[in-house]
Amino acid sequence: MTKPDADADFDSGRKLRNNDGQIEFWNTGPGKNWARYQAGLDACFSNINARLIERCEMKDDGVILDVGCGTGATSLALAGKFGHQAQITGVDVSKPLLDYATQRIESSHYTNIRFLQADVQTHVFKQHSFDLIASRFGVMFFTEPTVAFKNLAIALKPDAKLNFVSWSTVDSNPWFSIPRDAAVDRLGKGVAGDPRAPGPTAFADMDYVHDILSHAGLGDISIEVENLTIETTLKPAEMAELACNLGPAVRLMKEKGGSEADARHIRAAVSQQLGPFKTRLGFSIPASIVVVSARRTR
Ligand SMILES: C[S@@+](CC[C@H](N)C(=O)[O-])C[C@H]1O[C@@H](n2cnc3c(N)ncnc32)[C@H](O)[C@@H]1O
Repeated sequence: MTKPDADADFDSGRKLRNNDGQIEFWNTGPGKNWARYQAGLDACFSNINARLIERCEMKDDGVILDVGCGTGATSLALAGKFGHQAQITGVDVSKPLLDYATQRIESSHYTNIRFLQADVQTHVFKQHSFDLIASRFGVMFFTEPTVAFKNLAIALKPDAKLNFVSWSTVDSNPWFSIPRDAAVDRLGKGVAGDPRAPGPTAFADMDYVHDILSHAGLGDISIEVENLTIETTLKPAEMAELACNLGPAVRLMKEKGGSEADARHIRAAVSQQLGPFKTRLGFSIPASIVVVSARRTR
């Protein structure tokens, strides 16, 4: 009898791709950038966090997993909703982001949040251990999404729910499309990539997300696009810097070997094009997200 291969798909025997590229990404420059801009990002995403949290339901002393928790904003918001009796674990592959999250929790009054550095695609979670799994923008970076969600489904208690938010298309999110277009204007088009490759908009296609979740053994699947606005008090230059250091502009800069002069030019163009979204207090930018829930039904 041949030995089962831990790196192969149980059903098809296909060799699985690992997440090494993403693990490196989130532990180096881009991950550190995410930590650096966290205050601005949390301000931008506060109403998105609120949408996610209001959909999360569970008994107050339940056990929660926050997937791709980053610097812990969603873990904290979950603690705010469910209180001190809930047990919350934030899981993430990124040490710099978890270090930031740990500091943040230590200076909060919550003692019921802990963090785990692990890849949720491969980590062996205790079966049937979570009453709720939640994620704000932390589930679109798996090389094998079905395998990762199967792993999460096993960790859910029977009937327990998974709730997450991800981004809709680049074109319906000006804060991605403006920097992308500014970078293309300056550097030329990049190589057309796979829109489903790990990245912020990998889950923009709702049928694809439905397939992943149902193949992972989840049921009662609800997937909706929601249009809202990102409200922020950031100044134009800060907003441009944020938009140019995360997302499509960074990828094109890397691909084309863009210089500091290119980066300055792109930031200036982005700052100018964000003009129509300026408000008295900062910015109000339309955004489009995918709001997903599913249940462990078997
Ligand atoms: C876009 S950030 C979102 C962070 C946080 N949820 C927030 O909204 O501020 C994506 C997060 O997913 C994490 N991540 C990516 N792949 C992962 C994996 N395979 N297992 C666990 N975390 C992962 C990254 O390290 C990063 O912190």
